[in-house]
Amino acid sequence: MRSNNCGELRTQHINSNVQLCGWVDRCRDHGGVIFIDLRDRSGTVQITVDPDQGKELFSAAESLRNETVLQISGKVRSRPEESINNKLKTGEIEVLANKLQILNQVKSNLPFTVSIHDEEPVKEELRLRYRYLDLRRGRMNENLRLRHKTIKTARNFLEEEGFIEVETPVLTRSTPEGARDYLVPSRVCGGEYFALPQSPQLFKQLLMVGGLEKYYQIARCFRDEDLRSDRQPEFTQLDIEMSFMSQEEILELNEKLIAKIWKKVKNIDLKIPFPRITWDEAMARYGTDRPDTRFGMELIEVSEQFKDSGFKVFSGAIATGGSVKCITVKNGNNTISNVRIKPGGDIFSEAQKAGAGGLAFIRVRENGEIDTIGAIKDNLSSDQKEVLIKQTKAEAGDLILFGAGKTEIVNKCLDRIRQYLANQLGLIENNPKNESWNFLWVVDFPMFEFNDDEKRLEALHHPFCSPNMKDIGKKINWKEKLPKARAQAFDLVLNGLEIGGGSLRIHNPELQVEVLKTIGLSSQNTKEQFGFLIDALQMGAPPHGGLAFGIDRIVMLLAGEESIRDTIAFPKTQQARCLMTQAPASVSNDQLKELHITSTWIDPENIQNDVPD
Ligand code: AMO
Repeated sequence: MRSNNCGELRTQHINSNVQLCGWVDRCRDHGGVIFIDLRDRSGTVQITVDPDQGKELFSAAESLRNETVLQISGKVRSRPEESINNKLKTGEIEVLANKLQILNQVKSNLPFTVSIHDEEPVKEELRLRYRYLDLRRGRMNENLRLRHKTIKTARNFLEEEGFIEVETPVLTRSTPEGARDYLVPSRVCGGEYFALPQSPQLFKQLLMVGGLEKYYQIARCFRDEDLRSDRQPEFTQLDIEMSFMSQEEILELNEKLIAKIWKKVKNIDLKIPFPRITWDEAMARYGTDRPDTRFGMELIEVSEQFKDSGFKVFSGAIATGGSVKCITVKNGNNTISNVRIKPGGDIFSEAQKAGAGGLAFIRVRENGEIDTIGAIKDNLSSDQKEVLIKQTKAEAGDLILFGAGKTEIVNKCLDRIRQYLANQLGLIENNPKNESWNFLWVVDFPMFEFNDDEKRLEALHHPFCSPNMKDIGKKINWKEKLPKARAQAFDLVLNGLEIGGGSLRIHNPELQVEVLKTIGLSSQNTKEQFGFLIDALQMGAPPHGGLAFGIDRIVMLLAGEESIRDTIAFPKTQQARCLMTQAPASVSNDQLKELHITSTWIDPENIQNDVPD
């Protein structure tokens, strides 16, 4: 159907007869001559339709609407000097059409402008509803290519390293990765359900027991969790597992993989090894396990100074096992008014969103004098002031913001404020040392965290991570020592976003049983849910470990997008809906019956209608 692609034509094609196919990107009538920008996936080229080439051809061109699908034959010629367009790769030439065939008309109104050049902002709802049109536009087109290149580079790298790609089941049992499962009812096994995998975690471990040693997969994962701009209910992992490798070897291999992707996709040379920080240190310095290290404003613990303070908000928090921490906002006296920190202000409301009651603050004036409001002012001795200034390295003009209370809330609050202010004050863009790509391995995660609602320990990553053997000692001590042990687990963080995570796994069946017991699984439940894993570990499981990267997030960062929805061809909305196909949708009663299901769903609108006045 075509001899060439539109975007590849150059001056060397001048005088060639070509046949092209594509969409009408734009059409302009310039006093008797019609110019069509014809677009295919390679780009656009200008087609010139001259009345001298025949009346029929010209009137066909006159009636063209944008996005009509065309086949055009013509001769490539150079453009006159004054109409050369240097912004276009094909800008020095044009095709003088001698035949035009409409392959398909546009029969309804387009909901938005579709042009490879014109990126006018369009409401996301419309873009998702008519995703196929959105995909024709330059930005999404570029993002999908970048995604392809990222995955291809990873595949090439891993294959050179001896890994093979293996597919694992999508209809499977629930794997505890922390989110709710998507369930699939079985027709043939009435009353029983498959779970879609939250990750291929257990299968990849079983592949190691199966002797594969080096596995990877571009794996679709499903998690029914609250959605954000970096979370989708179905997303893609680059999932990797290997046997007989230490944590250090795993990290090194993956640093090389990431560096290769950045080189191939962005032509950027990353500096490896990436910096490493322990989980404890990350929490202490940033209040989060995924710190953005492109700017400072680190958290400083000042509990010791305030434990005997007359300022009850501080001393009370410490007395009940909590802490007092602060961040120093450089030159904050000029940039942040009291109104913003007090109730009703934007900074106050950020603190509240993190569960804090508010923020205390101090302003540092000339000569080290400090200025505060409220009770904190009257209860700060001059010694305390001096220590505080020294510890926070605050200078005249700086603002110190305090969080006091349960350590978890203080961390959450100051982490949130730190990020909020960094964006507000332009600290990320203005940081002269900013290399934009701040990778960081966070290592030595705790094995467990306490679930306050369920009053039990739960695995911080998942219950298959190996504890640090130094922390648990001999088998006899496991029960006592496991709850406080560190895991041999690690996350890769990039500019404050978790892009991957993994661990060494447990290959000792007894230890695996003990860990499952620690998170509250009875031996009956262990047998039922994980009997197949324990069996496998008993039959010569090699030491193994691995990790998974979030492909959508990596592509989002590489593409400079703010949402992973812009890196996925057909994503879901915040309500986990596909606006184009209108999924999820109701199904017929017959279908439900066949699956042995009755729905208990009651439309809330009907409930309201039932309520008497
Ligand atoms: P984890 O749960 O940390 O680990 O997931 C690995 C990576 O997947 C990405 N990710 C997501 N991306 C988009 N939407 C989501 N809802 C979503 N959830 C996670 C993140 C994350 O770092 N089985 C383990 C890996 C292992 O131990 O090998 C796992 O799934 O970038």
